[in-house]
Amino acid sequence: MTREELKAAAAGMLDKAYCPYSHFPVGAALECADGTVYTGCNIENAAYPVGTCAERTAMGKAISEGRRDFVRIVVAGKSEGPCVPCGMCRQFMKEFAPKLEVICLNAKGEEQAFTMEELLPHGFDQSFL
Ligand code: THU
Repeated sequence: MTREELKAAAAGMLDKAYCPYSHFPVGAALECADGTVYTGCNIENAAYPVGTCAERTAMGKAISEGRRDFVRIVVAGKSEGPCVPCGMCRQFMKEFAPKLEVICLNAKGEEQAFTMEELLPHGFDQSFL
């Protein structure tokens, strides 16, 4: 899948988001080394902290299918600036993909790309345990 196709896959998930509380849909498309793509959206809950983000939905789907080989993820949001992953998602993604490329889109589809190291410098990992 090309970069543009992966961006379209993430943006296409905005319609699937369940976000009746924030009214802020987020879509994600996660690409594995062999090109397989897992998509996700945010899924909110009346008990607010129970909700989960699009990135963790996508990566959770992939991990539950036995995947660990993640290359890049696109996060799409209807924000003015690029929709960056929240802190919990940064920590979650670092566990499995410390070298992940994170491509963030705004409402216009404009992108800004980051490395995990840029998003979560000095992050906690298993080396501390
Ligand atoms: N959200 C995501 O899905 N990904 C992020 O990294 C940023 C926040 C969702 C969570 C919540 O459903 C909504 O956006 C507003 O915070």
